[in-house]
Amino acid sequence: MLAVARKPIVQYVAEELVANQIESILFVTGRSKSSIENHFDSDPELTRILTEGKKEDLLAELKYEEMAAHIFYTRQRVQRGLGDAILCGENFAGEQPFIVALGDSILGMHGSSPCVARMSELFESNRASCVIAVEEVPLEETRHYGIIDPGEGEGDWTRIKNLVEKPDPAKAPSRWAIAGRYAFSPLIFDMIRRVQPDKRGEIQLTDAIQLLCEEGKRVIALKLRPEDKRYDIGNFPSYFETFVEFALADPLYGGDLRKRLKEILG
Ligand code: G1P
Repeated sequence: MLAVARKPIVQYVAEELVANQIESILFVTGRSKSSIENHFDSDPELTRILTEGKKEDLLAELKYEEMAAHIFYTRQRVQRGLGDAILCGENFAGEQPFIVALGDSILGMHGSSPCVARMSELFESNRASCVIAVEEVPLEETRHYGIIDPGEGEGDWTRIKNLVEKPDPAKAPSRWAIAGRYAFSPLIFDMIRRVQPDKRGEIQLTDAIQLLCEEGKRVIALKLRPEDKRYDIGNFPSYFETFVEFALADPLYGGDLRKRLKEILG
């Protein structure tokens, strides 16, 4: 629920998915995260007060509550890693392919990236088992990401031969990092069940995707384009940068903020 400029991060992610033709969204949350459910619920009292006060501009800001997607919630009872969190969505996905969007990344300015729709198309046209969005990162940052070992490809996509979670730069197979958006066939659930927990007791999603590669399934990486720029809000330096960039791009307040920042910076 951390906000970036005007909106909580989860809202950017949900809006990005809806704009990419996703019709149903399952939030996998945890204890003490009920504020997410409250945020996406309608608030009749607030709506009434704003209507009576003729605050049309503020009413317009509540439009996200009518988001064109069915929203569902489930809880991961114990924090056993990303792979385990995905397993919480097994009944929701059923026999259908599905998208995973990590809540610590916003794609595109104000969540405007069309990458998920491109991933879905690539998934269908290649009869893939998995498509992963990837971005090139500096070598010294490989230890923060899942890193792919790319095979042959075409244009902005490539087959993935292997993956490794958070390798040291010396052992990284490339600088292409998993960027927080995945398309999966339901096959992934069986792979997750086969993964052994790591030394912190976490079931890594990257290890389950590696099993897909070992089974000879089509696992594909799609490179982010400039308009898909990934805003990482999982650490303070990039959260601060994201906040400033999003606020500067605000149609109403961006101009004044730009002037003020110039003054502050002297
Ligand atoms: C997770 C994934 C990692 C991926 C990253 C992207 O790591 O395990 O492969 O590159 O998200 O944000 P986390 O940041 O949750 O440790």
